[in-house]
Amino acid sequence: MMFAGKRVFVTGAATGIGRATAEYLADEGARVLGAGLDGEEGKALAGRYGEGQLIFRECDLTREEEVQSAVTAATERLGGLDAIVNCAGIYPTGKRLEDVSDAEWEKTIAVNLTAIFRVCRATLPLLRAAGGGSIVNIASVHADATVPGVPAYAATKAAVVGLSRQMALDYAVDRIRVNAVLVGSVATRMTLDGLEAAGGADALGLSFEPNRIARIANPSEIASAIGFLISDAASFVTGSAMQVDGGLLARLL
Ligand SMILES: NC(=O)c1ccc[n+]([C@@H]2O[C@H](COP(=O)([O-])OP(=O)(O)OC[C@H]3O[C@@H](n4cnc5c(N)ncnc54)[C@H](O)[C@@H]3O)[C@@H](O)[C@H]2O)c1
Repeated sequence: MMFAGKRVFVTGAATGIGRATAEYLADEGARVLGAGLDGEEGKALAGRYGEGQLIFRECDLTREEEVQSAVTAATERLGGLDAIVNCAGIYPTGKRLEDVSDAEWEKTIAVNLTAIFRVCRATLPLLRAAGGGSIVNIASVHADATVPGVPAYAATKAAVVGLSRQMALDYAVDRIRVNAVLVGSVATRMTLDGLEAAGGADALGLSFEPNRIARIANPSEIASAIGFLISDAASFVTGSAMQVDGGLLARLL
């Protein structure tokens, strides 16, 4: 039980990477409060675990009052927090910058960046009260190298890396580690929808084959890396942007 005694707040926990992370942590003994949209999936997930092991709270993290009430629920149900995984995100594609409306731009910033700011602001006092903790912010390979048609997404994921590094400096004094993860392609609805729109994995130079560089990962392969960053084994890892991408960023062509 690698995470026995840890109390973890996971955003985007109903689906994809957030769900795999919530499951991995709960299976290894953590008590998890998952927050996010997709309430039906979230409730079904929580229903598979015992009372208090994995709780799901439906909320829109772009709304300050909903962030506050999810964090209050974590305090009441878990008695505090030791780690945060900011995984909720959206991936709007297919538009160059001049075709992006103010509303689309602002929504992407609100979900992918401002929600992390709000969740961290609300939960930092709890981590400090616990004597320290770990924050893992899910960025993307798009922070370092990107593709056409995703200006808002690429901007937010680079900003998540910058924010994580900066927070690592300010909160070391409280024994709070902050890291970003540059995630490659993962088989979640976000990727599968994008692949369909782009004409399949081959069209993007991606593959599901296990022996290929830049293959498409199973969400559990990201969850275990997030788990490492939460664990005490990562006690000297902070301010990092950890690539978990199957070699995608290493490949020139
Ligand atoms: N799938 C990939 O290939 C990939 C690659 C790099 C980075 N990522 C990042 O991983 C994270 C998880 O994505 P995923 O692939 O699991 O896709 P996903 O669509 O399954 O998960 C996204 C989650 O975010 C939640 N969410 C969206 N808007 C929200 C809001 N306003 N309030 C609360 N929750 C909200 C959704 O409910 C959903 O559970 C995202 O930050 C994404 O950018 C994914």
